[in-house]
Amino acid sequence: MYDGDNMEHDESYLNDKIYDSSQIIEKLSFLNTDDGLKHCMDDADFYLDIVGTFVEDNVLEELKKYYFSNDWDSYRVKVHALKSSATYIGAETLWSKAKRMEEAAKQGDIEYINLNHHQLLALYEKVLRNIDAVMPERVNQEYSSSIKKFTIFVVDDSRLNRQVVSEVLSDIYNIVEADSGDSFFQQLESRNAPDLILLDVHMPRENGHEIIRKLKKDEKYTHIPVVFMTNDNDLSTELQGFDDGAVDFIVKPLNPALLRARISRILELYYLQANLQEEVQIRTQDILDKSRQMYAFFEQLLQSLAKTIDAKDKYTKGHSDRVARYAVMLGKRMGYNEDQLLRIKYAGMLHDIGKIGIPDEIINKPSKLSADEFAIIKSHSVIGGEILKNITAVEEIYSAARWHHERYDGMGYPDGLKGQEIPEVARVICVADAYDAMTSCRGYRKGLPQDVVRKEIADGLGAQFDPLVGTNMLQIIDEDQDFDLHD
Ligand SMILES: [Fe+2]
Repeated sequence: MYDGDNMEHDESYLNDKIYDSSQIIEKLSFLNTDDGLKHCMDDADFYLDIVGTFVEDNVLEELKKYYFSNDWDSYRVKVHALKSSATYIGAETLWSKAKRMEEAAKQGDIEYINLNHHQLLALYEKVLRNIDAVMPERVNQEYSSSIKKFTIFVVDDSRLNRQVVSEVLSDIYNIVEADSGDSFFQQLESRNAPDLILLDVHMPRENGHEIIRKLKKDEKYTHIPVVFMTNDNDLSTELQGFDDGAVDFIVKPLNPALLRARISRILELYYLQANLQEEVQIRTQDILDKSRQMYAFFEQLLQSLAKTIDAKDKYTKGHSDRVARYAVMLGKRMGYNEDQLLRIKYAGMLHDIGKIGIPDEIINKPSKLSADEFAIIKSHSVIGGEILKNITAVEEIYSAARWHHERYDGMGYPDGLKGQEIPEVARVICVADAYDAMTSCRGYRKGLPQDVVRKEIADGLGAQFDPLVGTNMLQIIDEDQDFDLHD
């Protein structure tokens, strides 16, 4: 259509074209068209082609994608592209915002990007929408349909008034009309929810106040901004309207420029808000997913560590896992909360980690240990403490590893702590550990029967074991009639 070569000598066509182009350019008043034209050697057609390309080659989706994936290098490249193209068409505000964003991306100022990303997008979309409204025939349909066109529902019994709204707004927005509350609600059910509702206050049958109250009660529609149109500059009507949930008032007869400006500002605000809500949702989900992954990874890591510990000692397969399980059972009886149970479970799984530092031939010696060998075995609690001392986030892990062989009467090792001096987690693990040791097969003996174990623990209350923890263990044993604890 704008192929100048074929029409070179057709004067009337040229005149038409110039007329058309300058008219369109006049309507692009939201751009600095003088600047834009300068970049295009003052060739109006060239300029309009560039403006069309600006819409068709928009980087909106890419900006969203890179923002959400925190890919700041690619984000920077795209804001740079936006900045350059904005200069070309004379979109000054967009250019300066994009420029600042590019600098922030270069400096790795993610906080600035987070604070300004949605505003940049809102502005960008607004420019795209406005261009598309002014020169739809210059923009490839396929591209322009990707820009969301807002839908405005006008509810007014006056046909003339609906006509004015439509006349003023239909180039930028989709306009839907209803002449009564009934018609409005009927149409609402059968279509996608509009982005904004322009509502007349005074109407026969249902008036604006009744309609908005009904609307706000419905979860599907309560988020849609409603703007009242009213004849009277009456304070009580306005106050009542805000009370009902209206976001703004426009006085009739409608002033076209004011109507456009108000609607545009409200939509921008709501659009921003919706985007922010979406972002919060996406980011929250992201954090939840990541923390779930981290948690699973942590648990798997602990399991592997526990297996490594148990692999050292051929007589204690599954010991760490079982001690953790008994410790959790004890914790539950002692009223631990979820967090405490998790901590004691980890402490149980790692309590024997120091065995990694003991020579295999001593750990796995089938006959009785010499005094020296026994001293080496005992050092596993100190070694364990050394290995775990830097894990401060769960200090129970360190305490259990170092002190699970302390005795309540102060005769244990490595530090000879007594009674409440021994951290509670170590007193719990001590009981769980002893129970598992007695019920498990050792190189030199089979696992002891439950009643013998029970008596050992009962006899050890206040000596080897914390009386309270030990008593809880006795209850657990008594409830375990079929002796399935040690499976
Ligand atoms: Fe131990």
